[in-house]
Amino acid sequence: MINLKDIKNQFPIFKHQPGLVYLDSTATSLKPKIVIDKINEYYSEYSANVFRGIYPMSEKATAEFEETRGVVSKFINANNSREIIFTRNATESLNLLAYSLGRKIINPGDEIVTTIMEHHSNFVPWQVLAEEVGATFKIIDIDEDGNLEFKIQNSELLKQIITKKTKILTLTYVSNVLGTINPIKEIISTAKSINPNIIAIIDAAQAVPHLKIDVQELGADFIVFSSHKMLGPTGVGVLWGKEKILKDMYPFMYGGDMIDEVYVDRTTFKDVPHKFEAGTPAIGEVIAFKESIKFLEKIGMNNILEHEKKLTDFAINRLIDTFGQSIKIYGPKKIEDRGGIISFSFDKFHPHDIAQILADQGICVRAGHHCAMPLHTRLKVQATVRASFYIYNDEKDVEKLVEGLKKVKNILK
Ligand SMILES: Cc1ncc(COP(=O)(O)O)c(C=O)c1O
Repeated sequence: MINLKDIKNQFPIFKHQPGLVYLDSTATSLKPKIVIDKINEYYSEYSANVFRGIYPMSEKATAEFEETRGVVSKFINANNSREIIFTRNATESLNLLAYSLGRKIINPGDEIVTTIMEHHSNFVPWQVLAEEVGATFKIIDIDEDGNLEFKIQNSELLKQIITKKTKILTLTYVSNVLGTINPIKEIISTAKSINPNIIAIIDAAQAVPHLKIDVQELGADFIVFSSHKMLGPTGVGVLWGKEKILKDMYPFMYGGDMIDEVYVDRTTFKDVPHKFEAGTPAIGEVIAFKESIKFLEKIGMNNILEHEKKLTDFAINRLIDTFGQSIKIYGPKKIEDRGGIISFSFDKFHPHDIAQILADQGICVRAGHHCAMPLHTRLKVQATVRASFYIYNDEKDVEKLVEGLKKVKNILK
């Protein structure tokens, strides 16, 4: 069990940047030493390509690489590790689905359903596909609290949105702006009760790092996420999908490693997962990714969520107590409905000015539309400031944010 009290010691960045207040884990997380050490181990000790060599270094790299596939598979309770595909990031996993699945099953007049709170990575690929094919792109709205609209009106509204023509329902588990944790299991089961043939895709980029996910229990057909948001290296994304559907999909990219046999007149492809993994992957990064999962497991996913919820609750109360009406926090009012993400507006100050003044004090937050322009348009703001928490954040970080915002007020008033 890793103790969250002195967890900062496990992250070398805090030695290099003393006083760092990192509140941008929604964009990317910091990396513990064991992950950095594992990347170093690969590059220092056995940096061969995978699946190609029959010499020991290549065999070691291949075994380490495939071990990660097994660790990821167990972590999300997949049926088997063939259902785990490595991509570059969650964005690539979603584009792979829009291309390899979407272009196979979507016909003119079909419907693709998503929500207004999506990250562009789970919005634009489907919008473009619908436009190309002549399908209908439907968007579920949010209520004033930042919950998906149908939640309060029971499933009647979902029944109006999901029809027999709906082929794909794709939505985020946790909003990267509002922090809303959507009731994914209930949504999928309602959608599938209306149309059993629907394919449910979950953008779990902000969920897998923070809460326990069991893909069998969730009822989804696909989920996507990124290593770099869960203490792992950049350059590694995951696509989990039901093997039966994966086998029927088109390959995504063609070339090295994904082929079975190539003749001048035809090519055959490998089975899943390798059919979707063309070219040399991010080997050292995939190898090190398993260390981040083991690290998270040692803390316990339930402890992680509880820590983040407590901190978020504390932060929201501190911000409102200190700044009252001057601060407007977006997203669900009830802490049960949200994760460790707080997006806000502060007086009439520009979010970029706020972020800059905080940055000058060593406080890292994000300002902008956070790759969710349709949501910001819906909220009637161009940009917000976003502070997000992970396992290495504590109440001291929140107090520094509050102090930082007091300075912002003094400077910009
Ligand atoms: C909800 C959500 N989906 C998708 C992505 C895209 O992730 P990546 O940049 O790793 O592809 C992000 C990144 O912030 C996100 O928050």
